[in-house]
Amino acid sequence: MPPADSVLGRGPSGWQHGPVQKQAIDLLIHGASELATPLGTGSRAGSAMDEIHVLEKGAVALDQGRILACGLESELRELYAPTECLDAEGGTLLPGFVDAHTHPVFAGTREGEFEQRLAGARYAEIAAAGGGILSTVKGVRNASREELLALLLDRLDRFLMLGTTTVEAKSGYGLTTADEIKSLEVLRDAAASHPIDIVPTFLGAHAIPPEHAGEKERYVQIVLQEMLPLVAEAKLAEYCDVFAEAHTFDLEDTRRISRRAQELGLGVRLHVDQLTPLGGAQLAAELGAVSADHLEWVDGKGMEAMAEAGVAPVLCPLVPLFLRESKEAPGRALIDAGLAPALSTDFNPGSCYMQSLPEVASWGALRYGFKAAEGLTAITLNAAASLGRGARLGTIEVGKQGDICVTDLPSHRHLAYELGRSPVRAVVKAGRVVFRRTDRIQ
Ligand code: NIG
Ligand code: FE
Repeated sequence: MPPADSVLGRGPSGWQHGPVQKQAIDLLIHGASELATPLGTGSRAGSAMDEIHVLEKGAVALDQGRILACGLESELRELYAPTECLDAEGGTLLPGFVDAHTHPVFAGTREGEFEQRLAGARYAEIAAAGGGILSTVKGVRNASREELLALLLDRLDRFLMLGTTTVEAKSGYGLTTADEIKSLEVLRDAAASHPIDIVPTFLGAHAIPPEHAGEKERYVQIVLQEMLPLVAEAKLAEYCDVFAEAHTFDLEDTRRISRRAQELGLGVRLHVDQLTPLGGAQLAAELGAVSADHLEWVDGKGMEAMAEAGVAPVLCPLVPLFLRESKEAPGRALIDAGLAPALSTDFNPGSCYMQSLPEVASWGALRYGFKAAEGLTAITLNAAASLGRGARLGTIEVGKQGDICVTDLPSHRHLAYELGRSPVRAVVKAGRVVFRRTDRIQ
């Protein structure tokens, strides 16, 4: 039933003046100071990142998991009869956040390495000495599926409580066929039982496992001939990632693994130019990768190639800080080059043990100079578009999935400005209230 007709009371015999018939809906979110969102289904690049839609006192009507209407509360109340109401209590409504780069399937933590870096050790040195990724590999191999699933579900809860409603999630701490499949199956099982949307990525080429030390090619062949076909056949991942780095996989390894993944129907996302300048951004462009992530060392040529090929930069502004590395991605230059960066946490136990996208927006502002609207676009629509989810997620618009973060912020400009606390008052996922903050001081 078209809502305008219900208000006017228009029946089969023409215009009527009887009681107004309102459409029953599942949920009305009201009481907000503003609703702020980028618009559209594709990524917003360059200066368009700064153009968002702000509706003062905006309210949202949701039904059957989708956004039915946005407008003033008074307008929506005339049209709809909600079963449930969620009061934003003067906060700002934002699209559910989308984290386009995470490594959440792990067991064990690495606070010892964190402390080694505080004493001056470098990330690559720790990795070369058998620590780093390989220490988490031990943890994952020794963990049962049930243990991994329980750990992952706790982390997904935390993501959700921080306003993240969709995560890309990588394997990459198993590094045997069985342990990589185990990690991806754990992601699949978590997705089936948790409200968060999970976009799974196979990262078998994350490090060379100890049993193949000094024999990288043997491991690459296992990735190519054993892991990738099984992962594709079982549809356990949408994307394939490679950690292209001086101490892991070179550009030729990355090219072969990515091409094989593409032949098997997977998209490609790549860890490139993070610790050393290898020209990974150009390779991402050559391969038609969906995203090139990290990019601390990307140069002008790399940016140009990415812009031409439409590769999404996925930046992780907390990682250099956490690793105590001085080189940072040229966030502002990427926008100025007409690209559409997303900002992500890179959540993992080694290089960034942090799950908050509001915090990432703050660091995007402080380190790259991203404006409030640019930061918001980077953790919502651009991230969703980089995951092939722009048509369904990433904005508050009619027809999109009802993923909304109800904050206690007076305006979206406070998102980056307020550091070190969660601004999330409630989270609506696919039209359902899945989290309400209850922490009032007694
Ligand atoms: O994105 N760069 C490779 N992978 C992760 C680090 C993983 C780890 O140290 O456990 C990253 O930084
Ligand atoms: Fe990463």
